[in-house]
This record gives sequence, structure tokens and C-alpha cells, in this order.
Amino acid sequence: MANKLWEKNFEVNKEIERFTVGHDRELDLYLAKYDVIGSMAHITMLESIGLLTKEELKKLLKELYHIYEQCEKGEFIIEPDVEDVHSQVEVMLTRKLGDIGKKIHSGRSRNDQVLLDLKLFTRHELIEVIDHIRILFNELIQKSNQYRNVLMPGYTHLQIAMPSSFGLWFGAYAESLVDDMYYLLAAWKITNRNPLGSAAGYGSSFPLNRQMTTDLLGFDSLDYNVVYAQMGRGKMERNVAFSLASVAGTLAKMAFDACLFNCQNFNFIKLPKECTTGSSIMPHKKNPDVFELIRAKCNKIQSLPQQVMLIMNNLPVGYFRDLQIIKEVFLPAFKELEDCLQMTAYIINKMEVNESILDDKKYDPIFSVEEVNDLASHGMPFRDAYKTVGLEIEAGTFKPNKDIHHTHEGSIGNLCNDKISALMSNTLSQFHFDYVANAIESLLNSCK
Ligand code: ARG
Repeated sequence: MANKLWEKNFEVNKEIERFTVGHDRELDLYLAKYDVIGSMAHITMLESIGLLTKEELKKLLKELYHIYEQCEKGEFIIEPDVEDVHSQVEVMLTRKLGDIGKKIHSGRSRNDQVLLDLKLFTRHELIEVIDHIRILFNELIQKSNQYRNVLMPGYTHLQIAMPSSFGLWFGAYAESLVDDMYYLLAAWKITNRNPLGSAAGYGSSFPLNRQMTTDLLGFDSLDYNVVYAQMGRGKMERNVAFSLASVAGTLAKMAFDACLFNCQNFNFIKLPKECTTGSSIMPHKKNPDVFELIRAKCNKIQSLPQQVMLIMNNLPVGYFRDLQIIKEVFLPAFKELEDCLQMTAYIINKMEVNESILDDKKYDPIFSVEEVNDLASHGMPFRDAYKTVGLEIEAGTFKPNKDIHHTHEGSIGNLCNDKISALMSNTLSQFHFDYVANAIESLLNSCK
């Protein structure tokens, strides 16, 4: 049996086949489960418009569910002479059910099928990413509250500048995740629209019920215009990649801080020794490799939008095989980011902070502005106060008052972590994960 869906009366050149299939046999495994779910919705709709009988639908759904279970158990494979996941599922159905299996592709093309698979996969992975962010966010807020009174030097130009605190440092990264979450919400909205029914990119002469598959799959809406639906290939990936890059930027920056603060010359934080790695030659070493790897992996993820963009750049309207290559960079990125998020939360939880950093006299000048402000608030013009304190520091007579009072919003004494948490919860409440989960659950139940 020919295993190309499109094979007609001539044999495909083996070299051409090898090159065009590329890494699809491995990469499409990321999509397998979603390809099956998409087919469940598609054929349920086909039955409703008279293109399958009730009996055929029942048999197909049962078999698709069986394939779904294989995916869940990690037993689904794409056979060596099968091109991609879409072909594999159809081949399996046809082997089992004969001609009925060949009916499922009415009104569909692999172009909208892969669009749909990518959206369902991405939607699922976004849920995972967001869940990991929520955990990390809570960890950061908890640490920020716990260490709200522990001061540390703040830097500009990597020169000691002004008093800061661990409350501010941890809280800053929590708030950074709030902005990342706004980005993810936009990415989610773009992802959560149904491209199925656009077929090859120009719709179909069958009277497809696209709203029905939209509801069955728990999408918010359709990508209505079929030409636009196809244009979403690459665009969705690029926008999601931007949101992942935003999160990765937060993690990479924090990882660099942590490496720096963990260095003996800073000695602001410490990792328990079981969270460090050793050296093969220097017996004293306890290296923060975890943060170094988070930094590098997250820097790599920040290149993802550019990679996606360069692959699809300047393609005109309509499907092109170029789009297949996006999967190579896009699909593995989620697990990598999820791993980094999980590791960051884990290690932040274990991190110990040095509560007496500012006892060291070398940090005394960070209190200079406190002193200037104090003089100014007692009536001395700011510029004169600045000069007075400056001269004291030069002369070595400056005595810092370390009992500082910062009261405005977002400052050391008024972190506003409750406000930051409210922004996060408000954004999280806009995702409607339950609606999606219920739809998929009902669809799967309809197969049993
Ligand atoms: N592997 C292909 C991709 O990822 C599937 C779609 C094939 N469509 C086609 N017209 N050749 O793009």
C-alpha cells in the first residue's frame, strides 16, 4: 500500500522524500495527540453535515480514541515509510476500518490540519508555562515578603548606589512576570482561535460547520477568513515566541543577578551545597551552574522570535513548505522554558540570603542620599546638602544613618506586593482554562 496520501501513479524519488520529510517523523510526535483530537472534532462535524453516517462516526471515534491512548502512553510512532503525523493517523484508521478511514479527510487539508495541531499543542503548552509562572511568582512574592527588611546595596553602573532590599529584588522579578503574563495573554488569544475548515487555505465547497468544531475544541472564536487562517501559520508561532522570550528575559536577568550575588566578592546570597556543582580540579568549588544554564537556555529562547521570523520572512500569501521548518525551533522551546521556570522556582526556594551585608563599611556611601535628603528636609537647599555630604565622604568623616524610611509606593518600606499580586490574579482570571479543559474532556468522552 502506498503510504503517501498524495501518491498517484509514479514513485517518489527517495532522496527527494528524505529531504522533504526532514525531521517531521520525530517532530510531529509533539503534535500527535492534538492531531487525533482535531480529527475527532472534524469527523463529528462531518457527520452533522451528512458526510459520514452515525455508524461510521462511531467506529472512527472509537478507533481515534484508541490512537489517542497510544499517544498518551508514548506508544504512538510514525512509521519509516509514512510522511508525517497526519498521514500516520489516516493510515492507521484505514488499516483498521478500511474505506471508512479514507473518508475523514473530506473538507480538510494537511495545511489546516497542521495549523490546528499547532494551535492545540501551543494552547496546551501555554497552560503549562503559565502554571509554572504562577508557582515561581508565588515563590518570589513569598521571599520578597519574608525578606522585606533585609537591606542590600543597589547598584548603577555596577557601582554601589543606594540602599535596596531583598524585598525589592525578589519583588521586582515577580512584577516582571506580571508584564510577561500580559504578553502571554495576548499570545493565548491569538492561539485560541480555530483555523480548521480553512482547508488548503481557501476553504471548501462542502458546507462545513466551522462554529461547531470551534465549540467542540473549546476555542474562543474562529480565524474567520480562510486566507487569514492560513496566514496565521508562523504568525502565531512568532507571537507566542515573543511571549516566551519575554518570560525568558526575566529568568535570564535574574539568573545573572544570582550568579553575581552568589560570588564570594558579593556574598549576598548562598545556595545550599547540594544545589551547586563541583570542579574536577579545585576541591573548594561550589559553582552556581544551575543559574548559568538557566541564563544560557533563556538567552537561547530569546532568539526564538528572530528564528521564526527569519524562516517565514517575506513569504507571500498561501501555504509554503518553508513553514514546516518553524516546527524545529518552536516545538521544543516550551519544555525548555518550563524546565527553566521549574528550576528557578526550586532554587529560589532553597536560596539563603545574607542578612548583614550592610555591616561592611565599604557600603556606607549608599546612605549618602538619605543624609542629603535629611538635610534638605530640614531646610538646606538640595544642592548645598549634596555638597556638604559629598565633602564629608571625601574627608572620610561621613557617618551613615542606616535607619531608613522609604514610604512611597513600590519603595523599600512599601513594596505593594498585594497590588502586584492583584495584577497577576486579574490577568490569570482572563484565560478561561476551564472552558478549554471541559470542551476537550467532552470531546474525548464522546468517543467512548
Ligand atoms: N509537514 C507539513 C508542514 O508541517 C504538513 C503540511 C503539508 N502540506 C503540504 N501542502 N505539503 O507544513
